[in-house]
Amino acid sequence: MCGIVGYVGPLRADEVVLEGLRRLEYRGYDSAGIAVVSDGTLACVKKAGKLINLESALAQESLPSAHTGIGHTRWATHGAPNDRNAHPHLTQENSIAVVHNGIIENFARLRHELEEAGYEFASETDTEVVAHLLDSIYDPALGLAEAMRQACRRLDGAFTLVAIHANEPGVVVGARRNSPLVVGRGEGENFLGSDVAAFIGYTRNAIEMGQDQVVELHPDSIEVTNFDGSIAPINEYYVSWDAEAAEKGGFEHFMLKEIAEQPQAVSDTLLGRINDEGSLVLDEMRLSDDELRSIDKIVLIACGTAYHAGMIAKYAIEHWTRIPCEIELASEFRYRDPILTRDTLVIAISQSGETMDTLMALRHAREQGARVLAVCNVNGSTIPRESDAVVYTHAGPEIAVASTKAFLTQVVAVHLVALYLAQVRGTKWGDEIRHHIDQLASMPSKIESLLETMEPVRELAKSLVDAQAVLFIGRHVGYPVALEGALKLKELAYMHAEGFAAGELKHGPIALLEQGLPVVAIVPSPQGRSVLHDKVISNIQEVRARGARMIIIAEEGDSEVVPFADVLITIPAVPTLMQPILAAVPLQVFACALATAKGFDVDQPRNLAKSVTVE
Ligand code: AGP
Repeated sequence: MCGIVGYVGPLRADEVVLEGLRRLEYRGYDSAGIAVVSDGTLACVKKAGKLINLESALAQESLPSAHTGIGHTRWATHGAPNDRNAHPHLTQENSIAVVHNGIIENFARLRHELEEAGYEFASETDTEVVAHLLDSIYDPALGLAEAMRQACRRLDGAFTLVAIHANEPGVVVGARRNSPLVVGRGEGENFLGSDVAAFIGYTRNAIEMGQDQVVELHPDSIEVTNFDGSIAPINEYYVSWDAEAAEKGGFEHFMLKEIAEQPQAVSDTLLGRINDEGSLVLDEMRLSDDELRSIDKIVLIACGTAYHAGMIAKYAIEHWTRIPCEIELASEFRYRDPILTRDTLVIAISQSGETMDTLMALRHAREQGARVLAVCNVNGSTIPRESDAVVYTHAGPEIAVASTKAFLTQVVAVHLVALYLAQVRGTKWGDEIRHHIDQLASMPSKIESLLETMEPVRELAKSLVDAQAVLFIGRHVGYPVALEGALKLKELAYMHAEGFAAGELKHGPIALLEQGLPVVAIVPSPQGRSVLHDKVISNIQEVRARGARMIIIAEEGDSEVVPFADVLITIPAVPTLMQPILAAVPLQVFACALATAKGFDVDQPRNLAKSVTVE
């Protein structure tokens, strides 16, 4: 998620904005820039890389002393992380500068319309469309805020926008839809930020912008309107957090913040995937339909949590496309001398895009002639750069070492890949694909409502602070969820935790069971009298018969499991293949709460790195 800062007041705008961007560095980014209004024009400096690159550039070509300015740290979505794609984006005449957080879904159509009108684009970003759109609308008599309202009414997607105009010194305009924007009210000065960390060093009086609203800032006034121009109420609050807490959005840990961001992350990963004709489209899918139709085998490679997403992908891809799928730990892949041909598609799943095990496996696959598709969260990282195609998850930066929102968006992304393959190869009709996409689109609200029921899970975790081990069992896509639940507990609470295919218990692991041992079972949907459901019930009875403490994750309304549950955690009803998107959430909360109860560092667990860049 990008960082945004706006300022208008008596101080030097470039200094205030740069300070704000420093406070937003935690959000993760790959380029940064600042623009100010000075003497009837805009001055702008922007650089790829970290803020130190921007500061070096500013030392060489300093911005003029100005009192109106905006700044941005970019987490790339559309367009590689380079100087050209860095924000702010300006119009050709340097009259308007815009910074943006989010995804403009209909940017391609608007870009075409603006190019037809004679506008020339300097970047690959969706944001630059907004700069030229504002320019095409702007009327000096009505002002930048009105131009912003009219422009926003033409935009689809999720966006926070902040803009300045060369002819309007002392004015900063902001707008938001499905992406955060906060106003900081000062004394004779006012601020905008993607979160309060941007201005908390100057003021603690904040105004949270509402959905579909525009704000016009002057040094001594703040006006908030709806997109239709009607005046919107201002809800001001006092920020009591310190700077560090502000970075975590008021959460105790980044992991908790990122668990809470999952509805938005899933929603952003789904944005812009359906075109005007109702077909599924995937960004940077540089493999042709003919190449995809020639695929006769798929091999998924990944590590850790990403590997569990790959296990789920195998079920979805084989079910929807009938293409044989293998799932392989990246660190094992190339040592088993895999059989790869030009018609093999290797799918490399990686949040960071820098995991060396996965990168080396990818390189081996390409040496063997296979085509490689990356599923990645970091635009422009090594793994997508070395792949033939990429589908980006739009989870935003994941700071905590334990992967949460990246996992859910990986599962969503691999569902999209499976549906895309089914669409290209004709194994599913368009209406079937749209039905699945609609079901995926209902997941953010289901995750949101599920997150509101997690208090019993936190209480359960505290009650197990002295447990020596926890086992997890599941079948079908519940099995990778069991593995993921165990991994979360291992890496956060440093406990022995193990996941099993529920049917495998009787082949040995059941010997581990003893009185009171906590066992978590992920129960498939009972819809349609699923044989899977009955099998897992049988496994639960095997476990209970040996005195284990049964913790059951099951679908709301599944009455059959109630008699067997010492603790019952319910999740909304969803199709079987999508259940991991919900079932993983209580397991994330459980592991985080248990680690917290043990007093461990949840965001930076011992011995672990966020990106394992060594083999
Ligand atoms: C998961 O919580 C861990 N942080 C780890 O297993 C991680 O998923 C694995 O190292 C793969 O990382 P990647 O997705 O960045 O490639």
